[in-house]
Amino acid sequence: MRSRAALLGWVLVWLVGSGCGPQGEPAAESEAALAGAAGQLRPVDEARVVAAAGETQSWLTHGGTYAEQRFSPLSRIDESNVAELGLAWSFDMETQRGVEATPLVADGVMYVTGPWSLLHALDAASGEHLWTYDPGVPREYARSICCGVVNRGAALWGDKVFLGTLDGRLVAVDRASGEAVWETLTIEPDFPYSITGAPRAVEGLIVIGNAGADYGARGYVSAYSAETGELAWRTYTVPGNPADGFESEALERAAETWNGEWWKYGGGGTVWDAMAYDPELGLLYVGTGNGSPYPRWLRSPGGGDNLYLASILALRPQTGELVWHYQTTPAETWDYTATQHLMLVDLEIDGRPRKLILQAPKNGFFFVIDRETGEFLSAEPFVEVNWASGYDDRGRPIEGDIDYSQEPKFTKPSPYGAHSWPPMSFHPGTGLVYLPVRDMGFLFQIEANWSFRKGGWNTGLDPSAIASSAEGLDTSIEAYLLAWDPVAQREAWRVPHVTAFNGGTLSTAGNLVFQGSADGRFAAYRATDGERLWEMPAGTGVIAGPVSYEIGGEQYVAVAAGWGASFALGGGEAARMAGVRGGGRVLAFKRGGSAPVPPSQPPLGPVPEPAFELAATPEELERGLKLYHVECSTCHGALVVGGGSGVPDLRYSGAEIHADFSDVVLGGVRAHVGMPSFADLLSLDDARLVQAYILQRAAETAGGF
Ligand code: HEC
Repeated sequence: MRSRAALLGWVLVWLVGSGCGPQGEPAAESEAALAGAAGQLRPVDEARVVAAAGETQSWLTHGGTYAEQRFSPLSRIDESNVAELGLAWSFDMETQRGVEATPLVADGVMYVTGPWSLLHALDAASGEHLWTYDPGVPREYARSICCGVVNRGAALWGDKVFLGTLDGRLVAVDRASGEAVWETLTIEPDFPYSITGAPRAVEGLIVIGNAGADYGARGYVSAYSAETGELAWRTYTVPGNPADGFESEALERAAETWNGEWWKYGGGGTVWDAMAYDPELGLLYVGTGNGSPYPRWLRSPGGGDNLYLASILALRPQTGELVWHYQTTPAETWDYTATQHLMLVDLEIDGRPRKLILQAPKNGFFFVIDRETGEFLSAEPFVEVNWASGYDDRGRPIEGDIDYSQEPKFTKPSPYGAHSWPPMSFHPGTGLVYLPVRDMGFLFQIEANWSFRKGGWNTGLDPSAIASSAEGLDTSIEAYLLAWDPVAQREAWRVPHVTAFNGGTLSTAGNLVFQGSADGRFAAYRATDGERLWEMPAGTGVIAGPVSYEIGGEQYVAVAAGWGASFALGGGEAARMAGVRGGGRVLAFKRGGSAPVPPSQPPLGPVPEPAFELAATPEELERGLKLYHVECSTCHGALVVGGGSGVPDLRYSGAEIHADFSDVVLGGVRAHVGMPSFADLLSLDDARLVQAYILQRAAETAGGF
């Protein structure tokens, strides 16, 4: 299925409070409430997590186990009876913002995070609400977060559950009471860092990275004592100013691959999502992000690979020392992060058993790497790619015609990536990896006369390029669930989806793959051939990864649903095509479940005629378009088309909003609900031009969608 739509931009979001209540059937049993009351929450330690695959009543780590294969050995639900699945219970997160979290389940309790870094504890069998921890993230912090006020999950260790917050704190919460035990600031204040990723608990340490490379940040990953919150180590992923000395030899070597004065813009390489851990090898793997700014010509004039951007790093968990690295995109130039899911799998390659690490990062190639040594084994494209024709034997990309420093280049994949954070899964029975992918390009154009703006959107791209010159470009999007054979490095099957940004996947021993979709469905596919065997409406778009666990002899499959995040916010018309709206909820399914799906928000009606007038010349409107796409489109949508998430579509704003426009945009009167002030980046006159452009788009699209 192919859909045509204007696309572009990236993005942000907002939401409401906590509270929340379960809806559903009486639980088969309430082990969770009992366990909590009786203090039967068993401590989570190394031995327990290493044996997690056998603890089928739980889902102990972000990826299910340290290897992060997201495979459940449960088979009570299988291809013969999956059609009997129904909703066991649901939990209303009372938010319209994006939900990206993978729930954890231990001792009958589910721990699931939501927008604004809220942490909810639920009875995993009944959905009963046990407690909610709200770290109180200041809503104005939203301006430092590119892609929604999201959170992807928590980590368990001992008697605590650990959570990273949007404003950069790591918090240890008591599993029984839901009270914070300690918290520590993991970021340098004053810099636009944020945390959306799940921490990982390894050898008594809590490992946490951060995001921010789109604003100008220097990437790093840190580890803290689970017990005390004391910093154990911090490893930077890119060198700082050589004049200040280097934190390690690895960074000194890396600095030889940089030119210019990159440290002034941070350089990038943030560790915002993937990690995995091999307890036998004693290696912790992290993925690093894009360059800051994106174009290599601005970031490191004079060339160089810019280590360790867009790389997989193998670190010693006790010290953070770098053991090996593999850079997926040398001199990264398109937001091709390598923070995507890292998965540890043992497979036979060329007749030899190998310990592998697999990754399908944004750049569109599927990587198979030896995880003991970092040796490159193979990389093949899993979507249409035109930035490189392939990889040579040494593991270096053979770049195509990529230079957009002089003139715009339509390049595939787009900055959204061929695959981003929505997790993949591996099925040991089929030997296949299942992942949500999208085939789409983007018109890259360097920003003329770019200069670093502290606290601003600092990608170095001219985001208005695609808006003004989209005519004639292939802006189609193909998105699908892909089953990929990592040994043969080729597609096994695919299931097309309506638009981009579909959910992560879960594989189960029942020969099933579970996945939610952008257009608001949750479905099960046969793992061997992709035939759809069951589906249910989710009432909102699903982007997160599902989990499975067994309580009282009943297998559950659960997913946190909620349309939002980068594509829903910035994707404009393409995101709107999903036809869903926000509405965060946890959905848990079981055979014979018959709880009602919580209602979804009604669709928006046609765009009204603008109820406000503002005179502007064509030149002023052009300037308004540009300013809008630099400052606003990541939250309010490309070409002022909202994607259906919890951030308003500004074409629908009434006369009162327009009368108070500068109070909202510059005065910060709505900063407490996630609409930050732009007073430091826009003048009163700039705001007027942005407003004129918004009104123009409202007039142009009135009566439509
Ligand atoms: C970080 C995300 C983010 C960015 C960037 C952002 N906004 Fe917003 N904006 C929001 C949210 C969230 C709301 C809803 C706030 C509320 O609930 O009242 C909002 C609301 C508004 C409203 C009120 C709309 C209505 O109908 O109620 C206007 C006007 C607005 N934004 C304009 C802008 C402009 C202009 C820009 C760029 C200069 C911009 N915003 C950038 C998140 C953002």
